[in-house]
Amino acid sequence: MTEPAPLVVVEGEPAGRIATALLNRPERLNALNGELMGELADVLRSLDEDGDVRCIVLGGSERAFAAGADIGEMATASAMDMYAAKRVESWDEIRSVRTPLVAAVSGYCLGGGCELAMSCDLIVASETAVFGQPETGLGILPGAGATQRLTHAVGKALAMDVILSGRLLSAREALDAGLVARVVAREAWLDEAKRVARDVAAKGPVANRLAKEAVDRAYEGALSLGLDYERRVLYLAFASEDAKEGLNAFLEKRPPEFKGR
Ligand code: CAA
Repeated sequence: MTEPAPLVVVEGEPAGRIATALLNRPERLNALNGELMGELADVLRSLDEDGDVRCIVLGGSERAFAAGADIGEMATASAMDMYAAKRVESWDEIRSVRTPLVAAVSGYCLGGGCELAMSCDLIVASETAVFGQPETGLGILPGAGATQRLTHAVGKALAMDVILSGRLLSAREALDAGLVARVVAREAWLDEAKRVARDVAAKGPVANRLAKEAVDRAYEGALSLGLDYERRVLYLAFASEDAKEGLNAFLEKRPPEFKGR
């Protein structure tokens, strides 16, 4: 029997100090199901424990970094399922990675995908990248940090627009708004992210880890409270009829009919 393909492919560099982890669920545009998130947390933990790795690149494919949390998986989840889900632990583990993380974003970077990119320390985006938080169109809301991290990155006005209206941001708009660090040519999305990672890896590794912690402290206290609040209101949203309607409408490829309950 052949082994199933890994959901996260890891590439090392013989001479370098960087490692690249690529999400590998192309038939679902790298939608983040529990299994993929668990595998990603394991991969990042083991790279973080590897003293030779000084910077990690996290990417998807050219078509999609990730099109969000897995809607099929969520469509059947109750508020209690969401509360009990292990997936939340995977997000906490990613947040605790001490090695600098560079997100290499090409194509769709939506919902949980955008939240994953924002969980990294900096984002290198292809000129094709599209950022957005379409959750409210599904009758739910972002639950892996966007209400907090997007607001910190781009300010309240634009964060409200993106989250409430479903507005999508091009790579250039995301750059101007402060969401991404660099925009690069379409064909160079991964190479350029690796080049940035090599620059990071050439600096003092202890200093970089400490600097990363210190930059995060710029808003950490408020972030922790906000993340916890966001998680809980997401569970609450799952108790609504609108959430069932929105998630099922996506799977049935039809517009949702929200009733406001
Ligand atoms: N979950 C599950 N499956 C998904 C998915 C997702 N988030 N995104 C895409 N897919 C699936 C599609 O259903 C489709 O499957 P089939 O071939 O079986 O029909 C396949 O991936 C390819 O996608 P499309 O055919 O839709 O590709 P497209 O190029 O026409 O459209 C897209 C691309 C605009 C990204 C569209 O797929 C889309 O709107 N995806 C959903 C985006 C979204 O709403 N994300 C937020 C999810 S909720 C979330 O993330 C919650 C959270 O933070 C807690």
